[in-house]
Amino acid sequence: MLAIEKLNQFYDESHTLWNLDLDVPKGQCTCVMGRNGVGKTTLLKAVMGEVAVKNGKLRYTTETGEIELTKKAVEERSRLGIGYVPQGRQIFPLLTVEDNLRTGLAARSDGLKKIPERVYELFPVLKEMKNRRGGDLSGGQQQQLAIGRALVIEPKMLILDEPGEGIQPNIVAQIGQVIRRLINEDGLTVLLVEQKLPFARKYADRFVIMDRGRPVAKGEISELSNELIKQHLTV
Ligand SMILES: Nc1ncnc2c1ncn2[C@@H]1O[C@H](COP(=O)(O)OP(=O)(O)OP(=O)(O)O)[C@@H](O)[C@H]1O
Ligand SMILES: [Mg+2]
Repeated sequence: MLAIEKLNQFYDESHTLWNLDLDVPKGQCTCVMGRNGVGKTTLLKAVMGEVAVKNGKLRYTTETGEIELTKKAVEERSRLGIGYVPQGRQIFPLLTVEDNLRTGLAARSDGLKKIPERVYELFPVLKEMKNRRGGDLSGGQQQQLAIGRALVIEPKMLILDEPGEGIQPNIVAQIGQVIRRLINEDGLTVLLVEQKLPFARKYADRFVIMDRGRPVAKGEISELSNELIKQHLTV
C-alpha cells in the first residue's frame, strides 16, 4: 500500500529521519514503536506532507496505480484517501461534535457534504453527543471524535499517532476494536504509532521499532520478543 524508501528529513540542521525504509502492507495494521523523540511523529507527518523531506520516496499504491507522494500537498494526500489522526487529537473545542466531523469533509475527493453513517455506526457516542461542543467531551471521546473526523473521507489508509495516550482503558479497547473492524470489514490499511505494548500486541499485525530516526527491528507482531522490548522500548 505504501512503500517508504530512503527517507531523509531535517528540522533545520537536525537530521531526524535517516535513510528510512518502511513497508505498510495493504489491509494490515503496522505499528511503529520506539522511545520518546526517536522520530515517530515526524515520520507520520512526513507521510502526510506536514513536514518537508530532504529526499527519498513515498510510493503509494491504489487501484488506479502507483503515486509518488513526496511532492504532493497535504490536501492532495487526503484526497488520495489518506486519513490522519494527529498526536494530541487537535479537535476544535468550540465547535459541536457534528461540526468537528464536518471539517473533515473538505478533504473528500467526491465533494460529498454528508457525514457517512459508518462513522456513527463505529462510534455511536458521536451520534449521541453530536450537538455537544468538542471541548465538553472526555479525553477518550475527543480521541474517538478525532478518529471519526479522519474517517469521514472513508480513507483507504488511516494513520494514527498514539491514539491511546492519556485515555481511560475501556475507550482504548473500543478504539482498538474499531481499528480491527475497519481492517476486517472495510479492508482498511493502518499505520499506527503506539507505545502501549498490550495494545500493539492485541490489535497490530506487524511492528517496526525505531531508534534515532531509523528502523532497528521489524516483523510480525508475534515476533516482538521481550529481548527487543528490553533493548529498544523500556527506559
Ligand atoms: N518542529 C520541530 N522543530 C524542531 N525539532 C523538532 C520539531 N518537532 C520535533 N522535533 C525534534 O525531532 C525529534 C523527533 O521528534 P518526534 O516528535 O518525531 O518524536 P516522537 O518519536 O514522536 O516522540 P514522542 O514519543 O515523544 O511523541 C525530537 O528530537 C524532537 O525534539
Ligand atoms: Mg510523537
